[in-house]
Amino acid sequence: MKLIEAKNYADLSRKAANIISAQVILSPRSVLGLATGSTPIGTYKQLIEWYQKGDIDFSNVKTVNLDEYWGLSGDNPQSYRYFMDENFFNHINIKKENTFVPNGMAKDAEEECRRYDELISNLGGIDLQLLGIGHNGHIGFNEPEKAFEKTTHMVDLNESTIKANARFFNSIDEVPKRAITMGIKSIMQARKILLVANGKDKKDIVERALYGSITPSVPASILQLHSDLTVVYCFE
Ligand code: PGA
Repeated sequence: MKLIEAKNYADLSRKAANIISAQVILSPRSVLGLATGSTPIGTYKQLIEWYQKGDIDFSNVKTVNLDEYWGLSGDNPQSYRYFMDENFFNHINIKKENTFVPNGMAKDAEEECRRYDELISNLGGIDLQLLGIGHNGHIGFNEPEKAFEKTTHMVDLNESTIKANARFFNSIDEVPKRAITMGIKSIMQARKILLVANGKDKKDIVERALYGSITPSVPASILQLHSDLTVVYCFE
């Protein structure tokens, strides 16, 4: 495990972007696992800036996102597809057809979960997975549970997650209660993992995840078993 302390959020964003950029420069056909949430926004901004300068080429990159709200279509501004388009994909030269997010409007949820796992496996797995961490230790929407869920699955979001995400919606009632998320196995099978954590309020959970017991009640704790985990953090 490599721990990289950042001076502030801008520094965290640059450091994370540097790691992703190195991945894409060294392997232009990389499959990137991407995340939503407020923490990665600065990382995406930095990558866009370097793309605009001509330093990074995304034309052969493929991406798979961790999760999507159930019941929201990609043109809903609260959906994670929309978030990714707005905050990243629309500003770089990635081919949209090479960007994948679970379909929150699929007719059959189970079928969609199966399709998503198959897709990841057909892409040859994930080269670098970017992750945020929730206050309850969730990664993607793998919420604290009695057992680790291996494959892509439907989750009922925790009350604390719904509250935390309400800031993006007009009211808490609008926050979807369910989501489709990549499972722990696909995340752990990524060849490299980059976890970003920003803010005082993430210090305790990051410490529990990295140094506490490995338990499904802190889903991120499984990352202790990954052989190539980098954590970029700023707890100021
Ligand atoms: P945040 O979310 O980056 O908005 O704090 C992280 C997460 O819940 O995964």
